[in-house]
Amino acid sequence: YTRAEVARHRTPEDRVWVTHGSEVFDVTDFVELHPGGPDKLLLAAGGALEPFWALYAVHGQPHVLELLREYKVGELSPEDAAAAPGDARDPFAGDPPRHPALRVNSLKPFNAEPPPELLTQSFLTPNELFFTRNHLPVPSVEPGSYRLRVQAPGGRSLSLSLAELRGRFPKHEVTATLQCAGNRRSEMSSVRPVKGLPWDIGAISTARWGGARLRDVLLLAGVGDKPPGEGEWHVCFEGLDQDASGTPYGASIPLERALSAEAEVLLAYEMNGAELPRDHGFPVRVVVPGVVGARSVKWLRSVAVAPSESPSHWQQNDYKGFCPSVDWDSVDFRAAPAIQELPVQSAITEPRPGAAVPAGELTVKGYAWSGGGREVIRVDVSLDGGRTWRAAELGGERPERGRGWAWTLWELRAPVAAGARLDIVCKAVDRSYNVQPDTVGPIWNLRGVLSNAWHRVPVTVTR
Ligand code: MTE
Repeated sequence: YTRAEVARHRTPEDRVWVTHGSEVFDVTDFVELHPGGPDKLLLAAGGALEPFWALYAVHGQPHVLELLREYKVGELSPEDAAAAPGDARDPFAGDPPRHPALRVNSLKPFNAEPPPELLTQSFLTPNELFFTRNHLPVPSVEPGSYRLRVQAPGGRSLSLSLAELRGRFPKHEVTATLQCAGNRRSEMSSVRPVKGLPWDIGAISTARWGGARLRDVLLLAGVGDKPPGEGEWHVCFEGLDQDASGTPYGASIPLERALSAEAEVLLAYEMNGAELPRDHGFPVRVVVPGVVGARSVKWLRSVAVAPSESPSHWQQNDYKGFCPSVDWDSVDFRAAPAIQELPVQSAITEPRPGAAVPAGELTVKGYAWSGGGREVIRVDVSLDGGRTWRAAELGGERPERGRGWAWTLWELRAPVAAGARLDIVCKAVDRSYNVQPDTVGPIWNLRGVLSNAWHRVPVTVTR
């Protein structure tokens, strides 16, 4: 069989085929028997099993292969068993391979999110499933010749190799969630069209990051503990990724946050114990806990302390919020501050909208998070569209006050009666008692950012 033939078998109606090595299997009759649930197996339908098995180690046992063998229907053609060559003229030809479970919102540049079924399977998002937000092609960096330029006011500067960044500064680790400003944009565009990628609820992920503290690097570069002059100072970052005119991706954060030991801003070279994957900034990226993902610049090439914000398009003319009445004719990007700390957010990952769930005990699962380290103190869930509420059970250890950098995964179990139509809703509360708005309309904005209204999932209960 060719891979294209295998790819036509993605549903029980068309039969569910998968490959392992060069072998092809029809696993339709096993879908309902899959111990991890039918929905998880269906994510691999029409393609290779290996990327999924690599994530979920239980599959690496002899009896699993033995079981699979019962379903074998043939072999891949020799040409298809080998990988296809890339196109050298395509600026994206050097992009890395990606996990097939990711839901792709744009291929070039690559923007993708994990499917909701996998998003809250684990507290730390596996690196292969971490959402990816690229504005440009992924740069190829030779780690041996990599240099980070650090520029302090008064003309002082440092040039650091990867080995120096690892060796000269104590390694600091922090578990932090990154969220794109456009997360849940598709709900906003269902009210009125907006400009931007149609993110569902998965432009958010969590990792344990390891690296040097930005504070330590700035202090070594000669930046004092106090601002070098009047007014607000900033730390501007540039990436190695460039557009056709040679302009790099860039963003900035206030110097005060960069120098604060409590804010834990990192120049990260590790993600969940491994070196950074290429899509997530190899070899070094910024991680700004509690702040919109756009400021966590990947493939970092320079850090500069300056009296004004980054001149980059993404700092000046994007990632800002506006009144719902502002349109593309009236918008003045200078009138709004750049988004830094994000507002409180939550979403339901299970069940999925439109699902038919069995009568009995229903489990509702999701995530909640807030910007600025404001830990989530409660998640309220309603099964009747917001008339009555119950507090969900919050998973994991409670973070220290003001250091809620990572999301909280939550769960609610409730009895549901056959035939009922449920309108499941969730809303989170952070430690400042900030709550999410109930509807999207009043927070609509032309770029579709900061979409954090109550998340609603309608389902029916079967008999
Ligand atoms: N850094 C560079 N150099 N180029 C980029 O396109 N995208 C930003 C930020 N850093 C970006 C970048 C945006 S908008 C987000 S949300 C995060 O990276 C996403 O990080 P991730 O792809 O590791 O999830």
